[in-house]
Amino acid sequence: MGSLQWGLLLSCLGYGILPGVWAQFPRVCMTVGSLVNKECCPSLGAELANICGSQEGRGQCTEVQADTRPWSGPYLLRNQDDREQWPRKFFNRTCKCTGHFAGYNCAECKFGWTGPNCDQKKTPVVRKDIHSLTSQEREQFLGALDLAKKTPHPDYVITTQHWLGLLGPNGTQPQIANCSIYDFFVWLHYYSVRDTLLGPGRPYKAIDFSHQGPAFVTWHRYHLLWLERDLQRLIGNESFALPYWNFGTGKNECDVCTDQLFGAARPEDPTLISQNSRFSSWEIVCDSLDDYNRRVTLCNGTYEGSLRRNRVGRNNEKLPTLKNIQDCLSLQKFDNPPFFQNSTFSFRNALEGFDRADGTLDSQMMNLHNLVHSFNGTNALPHSAANDPIFVVLHSFTDAIFDEWMKRFKPPADAWPEELAPIGHNRMYNMVPFFPPVTNEELFLNTDQLGYRYAVHLPGN
Ligand SMILES: *[C@@H]1O[C@H](CO)[C@@H](O)[C@H](O)[C@H]1NC(C)=O
Ligand SMILES: *[C@@H]1O[C@H](CO)[C@@H](O)[C@H](O)[C@H]1NC(C)=O
Ligand SMILES: *[C@@H]1O[C@H](CO)[C@@H](O)[C@H](O)[C@H]1NC(C)=O
Ligand SMILES: *[C@@H]1O[C@H](CO)[C@@H](O)[C@H](O)[C@H]1NC(C)=O
Ligand SMILES: *[C@@H]1O[C@H](CO)[C@@H](O)[C@H](O)[C@H]1NC(C)=O
Ligand SMILES: *[C@@H]1O[C@H](CO)[C@@H](O)[C@H](O)[C@H]1NC(C)=O
Ligand SMILES: *[C@@H]1O[C@H](CO)[C@@H](O)[C@H](O)[C@H]1NC(C)=O
Repeated sequence: MGSLQWGLLLSCLGYGILPGVWAQFPRVCMTVGSLVNKECCPSLGAELANICGSQEGRGQCTEVQADTRPWSGPYLLRNQDDREQWPRKFFNRTCKCTGHFAGYNCAECKFGWTGPNCDQKKTPVVRKDIHSLTSQEREQFLGALDLAKKTPHPDYVITTQHWLGLLGPNGTQPQIANCSIYDFFVWLHYYSVRDTLLGPGRPYKAIDFSHQGPAFVTWHRYHLLWLERDLQRLIGNESFALPYWNFGTGKNECDVCTDQLFGAARPEDPTLISQNSRFSSWEIVCDSLDDYNRRVTLCNGTYEGSLRRNRVGRNNEKLPTLKNIQDCLSLQKFDNPPFFQNSTFSFRNALEGFDRADGTLDSQMMNLHNLVHSFNGTNALPHSAANDPIFVVLHSFTDAIFDEWMKRFKPPADAWPEELAPIGHNRMYNMVPFFPPVTNEELFLNTDQLGYRYAVHLPGN
């Protein structure tokens, strides 16, 4: 029922949920003291006074800026959701890094920069077609995913209770959990699409910080950049790049669902993955959204059963075509009011797949990105979609199309609405739940500026 639900929610009800999960705060800041003071400004290195690396001129502890411009869209409540004015309900002071320094304690460089002082441009890593990887590169990628599934995230933890319950019943016990690097990636996506918890069994569903609006493209771009960097560190290779899956084949078969890549269907139960694939042993997290809503709690990262695909049989559904991609790349406007899933002639909405690829309204069918999610029931439910590693290569290609569009049209910053997009989607909104805070605007760039590029040729006009 997974993919059906996605399809129905998207195309009929008009709003709801899409894929997503990731944990959000640095482990060092999840102390009672930090949470009560709402300050996450750790020191860099052993010297306690070196807050935010200030002694090396890397950064300062400053008040968090959050977008206060009006939003539009179906989320009509105010001050009910802990993701409003992200991340100020949790932390109102964080490290603000200078120059190209970055990270929660300014220990890192911004994407695209390297060197001890973060002042050298990083040679862009190259994201390639998954079908053109050498056997060594393929093993590097699949092996890194599998290792990430088993290795605890080194710096970040997930919160397991929302906002008001975060310090536990006595106010003395932060409600957090460790989880693996890959499950953290899944949790982030879940967290960005989860419902507002108004009370037991009273979720407010009309909210989505990463879909159905302009942030769709920047949110998923940043999500992948984090995973790519975590994997680079995990395997100790700064040149590692995520591959992409060119899904514009027009075929009715999933050409990455093979044992060489993400696993074929298991003969005796096609909803499970073939035992010849390492992914057959993967378990999912963050799938029981209704249960969390009933119990007014968050996904805590425990395993909830095997990874499954092909749960819904669809007749003769076909993947998008190259022509669809070409059509969507000919749309000159980045987005159009109401910056939602019923915007027309919007590049973003056509790519996301609520419109036809040529930008005309189509509330009955899924197209491009949405269609690929629903295809063969692959990662079809928004809140748990990232559990399937196909998510990574699906979104990598979606991002390649976005990059091609940026290069063709070179949009000015104000192509992105400053206000009156749905909550989370205004240009200066901090993307939920990334931490330290980062705005949509900061990712509305060419990928070379962010330290990666795509080896791809997309159809011209
Ligand atoms: C930040 O949060 C702390 C703790 O709740 C509060 O005392 C302080 O006034 C807040 N600062 C601002 C500028 O809102
Ligand atoms: C809460 O505090 C009470 C009294 O100090 C103690 O008995 C109880 O174990 C505490 N519960 C938790 C979950 O820490
Ligand atoms: C998470 O793992 C770290 C490192 O092993 C450990 O120190 C910490 O207590 C763990 N935290 C939780 C909430 O389990
Ligand atoms: C690092 O990864 C790149 C990209 O896959 C590869 O070409 C290179 O050989 C790797 N380096 C090492 C030392 O494994
Ligand atoms: C995907 O679905 C199509 C048609 O619904 C079917 O023919 C095909 O075998 C399926 N592919 C996989 C890999 O399950
Ligand atoms: C974690 O979540 C699972 C699934 O929702 C639930 O069954 C379990 O009780 C939770 N564990 C804790 C410690 O809350
Ligand atoms: C788009 O959808 C919203 C919410 O359902 C609705 O209020 C608005 O009128 C729609 N706009 C257009 C142009 O269809």
